[in-house]
Amino acid sequence: MEYYNLFFLLCFSWKQFISNAHSSDSNQQLIPTEKLLVLTVATQETDGYLRFMQSANYFNYTIKVLGMGEEWRGGDVGSSIGGGQKVRLLKEAMEALTDQEDLVVLSVDSYDLIFAGGPEEILRKFQEANHNVLFAAEGLIWPDKRLQEKYPSVRSGKRFLNSGGIIGYAPYVNKIVEQWNLHENDDDQLFYTKIYLDSFQRETLNIGLDHKSHIFQNLNGAIDEVLLKFGTKSARVRNTVYDTLPVIIHGNANTKMYLNYLGNYIPNAWNYERGCGVCDHNMVDLSQLKEYPTVMVGVFIEQPTPFLSEFFQRLVTLDYPKDKLNIFVHNNEVYHERDIQRFWEESKDVFNSFKVVGPEENLSQGEARNMGMGLCRKDLGCDFYLSMDTDVMLTNRQTLKILIEQNRKIIGPLVTRHGKLWSNFWGALSLDGYYARSEDYIDIVQSKRVGVWNIPYMAHIYLIKGEVLRNQLKERNHFVLEKLDPDMALCRHARELTNHREKDSPNPETFHMLRVPKGMFMYITNRHEFGRLISTANFNTSHYNSDLWQIFENPVDWKEKYIHPNYTRIFTENYLEEPCPDVFWFPVFTERACDELVEEMEHYGSWSGGSHEDKRITGGYETVPTDDIHMKQIGYDKEWLHFIREFISPVTLKVFSGYYTKGYAVMNFVVKYTPGRQAYLRPHHDSSTFTINVALNSKGTDFQGGGCRFHRYNCSVDSPRKGWSFMHPGRLTHLHEGLPTTNGTRYIAVSFIDP
Ligand SMILES: *[C@@H]1O[C@H](CO)[C@@H](O)[C@H](O)[C@H]1NC(C)=O
Ligand SMILES: *[C@@H]1O[C@H](CO)[C@@H](O)[C@H](O)[C@H]1NC(C)=O
Ligand SMILES: *[C@@H]1O[C@H](CO)[C@@H](O)[C@H](O)[C@H]1NC(C)=O
Ligand SMILES: *[C@@H]1O[C@H](CO)[C@@H](O)[C@H](O)[C@H]1NC(C)=O
Ligand SMILES: *[C@@H]1O[C@H](CO)[C@@H](O)[C@H](O)[C@H]1NC(C)=O
Ligand SMILES: *[C@@H]1O[C@H](CO)[C@@H](O)[C@H](O)[C@H]1NC(C)=O
Repeated sequence: MEYYNLFFLLCFSWKQFISNAHSSDSNQQLIPTEKLLVLTVATQETDGYLRFMQSANYFNYTIKVLGMGEEWRGGDVGSSIGGGQKVRLLKEAMEALTDQEDLVVLSVDSYDLIFAGGPEEILRKFQEANHNVLFAAEGLIWPDKRLQEKYPSVRSGKRFLNSGGIIGYAPYVNKIVEQWNLHENDDDQLFYTKIYLDSFQRETLNIGLDHKSHIFQNLNGAIDEVLLKFGTKSARVRNTVYDTLPVIIHGNANTKMYLNYLGNYIPNAWNYERGCGVCDHNMVDLSQLKEYPTVMVGVFIEQPTPFLSEFFQRLVTLDYPKDKLNIFVHNNEVYHERDIQRFWEESKDVFNSFKVVGPEENLSQGEARNMGMGLCRKDLGCDFYLSMDTDVMLTNRQTLKILIEQNRKIIGPLVTRHGKLWSNFWGALSLDGYYARSEDYIDIVQSKRVGVWNIPYMAHIYLIKGEVLRNQLKERNHFVLEKLDPDMALCRHARELTNHREKDSPNPETFHMLRVPKGMFMYITNRHEFGRLISTANFNTSHYNSDLWQIFENPVDWKEKYIHPNYTRIFTENYLEEPCPDVFWFPVFTERACDELVEEMEHYGSWSGGSHEDKRITGGYETVPTDDIHMKQIGYDKEWLHFIREFISPVTLKVFSGYYTKGYAVMNFVVKYTPGRQAYLRPHHDSSTFTINVALNSKGTDFQGGGCRFHRYNCSVDSPRKGWSFMHPGRLTHLHEGLPTTNGTRYIAVSFIDP
């Protein structure tokens, strides 16, 4: 401290100071905004820097950036001391400004700082503060706790100096920074602190702290004090303890994630009246490009996943030139080799390239993801890397184009579990780096707030620029970090600053660090609907066609795969027929459903043989036996009853109005008619209130003959349609028979409902 005093006395001219003292009575003139110059230090255009500039430009600040392109030598700011380089740069800049006595200089950081208000407001508040130089304040003392007693006490407000924000008349700021003669990696905050704590300098230079965040809001230790406040044009932050509206929001220390959250709103990123104000910035128009960018698509099957063939189908039908897509598949599951083989045969010539790494390679998830990303990184022609897990069902064919056009370094589409709050991003992190729910999480998931959101964690699907993989993310091992889940490891690598000790440092003794500020922003967009996440839990792969069992776990995908596309038209357009009195005929299953059910039964294989003796039913005797397999025998009775309640009951209510079915059935089975075994069924009544009978294959191609005849009405339906069901009353009126199948094999699924 003595050191500074000495320096001060040598350099400072008293008279000059006194004559220049800025009085500040309440009648003083407002300083015109042209007199405010913002000085900031940035050595690289990080995402944080671009955000800072965007907020500054929004308010029309005049900014001078110091140090751009210089190597950072200011140490590892954030976890240790450093930042001397900043003071040196400011000192040099101030030397050039010494002749501008009425200039007000605002010196701020840029990577972790956002403007929430404009120059006029800042100048007014600065004048009201009645100091010649005003520093930001915070509640935590750094870097030397021993200096605490030397600080003047405050009755209310933050007591300690923070050097992330300085505002003052140019000559006074100059008087401070010209005292700097330390190293680039010495601590800037300590330097300023010592000057402030020197009561002589404090008083003569009239240095003050912005104790109550009129201008500077440091978030460290103060997150609980601030709230977002929405206006009609913009959003800002209110300090609820001091009831102030700070103009500059600083995410110092470990509050970067919280600043990112605030930055999703302030100043004009999003508000209730106007929605997203920055979403269209820097978009790319793909239609204006000569050629579409080349994309490496990494597909990861890390656990048994239902609806995999539908996933691949959606990949093939993405609206993007296939010759610009290179596919890398990591399949960790022997179970899925059948699906991959099928997909590979169908589409190996569709894409520009297609590579599969199977379970025999025994790659860990992290290794596989490193490999996929590495393929894009090392291929200079790879413009984008799209990573997709197979539990992402993209229903929007434009997804890839939309993500590319949004033009961010890392961006994912929002996908959610149907009807749930589960999604592929986190809005906040807990202190230990795991999940925390942000205030806006639910609104974003439910698209009540629509925009492009800077978030700390995402997974399942994201697009990364190839140039980012070759620069900021050029290390090869992003997916393996401590015991973190691979996607968490990637996000942490992308977010955080890394330091590389410079290899060729001329003097290895000096603390000489090359800082590569990553602090990359990851975005999630919900500007469109993209698709959903399916559940891979409770996927029992021991069946032949295991997706059939997914009716509970993934009802939307189940319906899409198995329910006839015209089924809903029954209700909207009366899309059904009545071929015989009270025999209703309507589409219910897709061909795929029919095929898989038949396959499942044939795979099980124990057909009853159609004899009267039947151990499966109570009494053990069947009067009108068929050659069949019960749903219960393949473990499908719960699922089948659910299907009846979900998809048959509504039809029942429509055609037999006033009858509310319980949707209960004991007899649910698939019947096989074939000339060599059982070809027909003699006339009978069903023991049901009503019966459904779904044709599972096609007349003409799979069999000849077949059909059903209703005696009372002398009426036959002899051209059953695959996937269509009959529904007719059971016990009394509809005596019927199964007409002979003359060739091939006919399959039907039958349920006696409400017995
Ligand atoms: C910034 O300047 C532009 C152009 O002069 C003006 O239209 C705009 O309103 C200004 N913005 C603010 C926040 O003052
Ligand atoms: C696969 O890798 C794991 C761990 O890396 C190892 O424990 C296991 O023995 C390997 N299995 C085979 C079949 O190589
Ligand atoms: C999976 O299905 C098989 C065959 O139906 C059954 O035996 C097994 O208990 C099921 N496993 C689980 C975990 O439900
Ligand atoms: C659905 O109905 C339309 C119009 O009747 C028909 O053209 C189409 O083939 C039907 N879809 C299926 C899968 O049968
Ligand atoms: C039943 O209908 C057929 C033609 O559809 C007709 O030839 C036959 O006579 C009818 N039988 C009775 C008993 O009405
Ligand atoms: C029976 O079906 C087989 C193949 O399914 C076909 O080759 C044969 O011609 C059919 N016979 C008759 C009489 O239709």
